Amino acid sequence: MNQQNWGSFQTLLGHLEEDVLTLIINRPDKMNALNQTVLSELEQAITQIEQDQRVKGIILTGAGEKAFVAGADISEFKSADVTRAMEMAAKGQAIFDRLEKNNKPIIAAVNGFALGGGCELAMACHIRIATAQARFGQPEVNLGLIPGYGGTQRLTQLVGRGKALEIMMTGNMIDAGQALQIGLVNYVVEAAKLMEEAKKLMRAILTKGPQAVAKVIQAVEACFDKTKNGYQEEVELFGQCFGTAEMEEGVSAFLEKRKPKFS
Ligand code: COA
Repeated sequence: MNQQNWGSFQTLLGHLEEDVLTLIINRPDKMNALNQTVLSELEQAITQIEQDQRVKGIILTGAGEKAFVAGADISEFKSADVTRAMEMAAKGQAIFDRLEKNNKPIIAAVNGFALGGGCELAMACHIRIATAQARFGQPEVNLGLIPGYGGTQRLTQLVGRGKALEIMMTGNMIDAGQALQIGLVNYVVEAAKLMEEAKKLMRAILTKGPQAVAKVIQAVEACFDKTKNGYQEEVELFGQCFGTAEMEEGVSAFLEKRKPKFS
């Protein structure tokens, strides 16, 4: 399939294949650790994704065969004080928040270690597919730290309080099978099939109405936003679907016994 380079970054690679963008964190010699450059470039990439009409869905993965992302770059921690550390956490959280709230579906294709900030990055994506070799964990306690890019919140939301506390208090890694069992990932697949499966799932989502998919993301988001009443948000978003060309097409197609064509 025709693939074109997308964006121009030092630490990210982008490939656009039809309307699906594959975004690769590209520091394989450092296990794709998230240094400040990666974070800033991720932020730029999100802005570009939001503006680029060609991009309808995003698959996020790591370069090389060993790691998705092995965490925040620990070498940047040594020089930080309390104020700087709070700035770093706030910046990471804001970027991951933009991923999670993005209108366009984002799938994490977890190809190896997803530790610390890497696990947090995967959790900020809408769906996670992992290879059987992937390993997950929040090992910050080994460094005298706690997760700072939303991990304490998202891991608890995804797997429940008991498992989240165990994972974060022990710092132990879990394998892909355990991650599947506790709901941290949606699927585990063979390494050779990871991108194919992620694209297949993305393609299935992209055959649906894009505005409806965006509204699903927004309504689910409201469940975790303490300032919002999720049920009321659902009422409003459901209402907004009526009168859209998408809903007109979806309902007409059903009544006419044909497949809908959303644009
Ligand atoms: N930050 C900075 N550098 C990192 C890193 C991180 N989070 N994770 C890995 N690296 C670097 C290593 O320092 C090493 O660099 P070097 O070759 O210049 O010495 C390189 O990536 C390869 O890692 P290495 O530890 O040699 O690979 P391994 O296969 O033996 O172990 C891991 C892989 C992922 C288990 C191990 O690297 C690790 O525990 N990383 C840290 C995980 C972590 O604590 N993350 C949370 C951070 S808050």
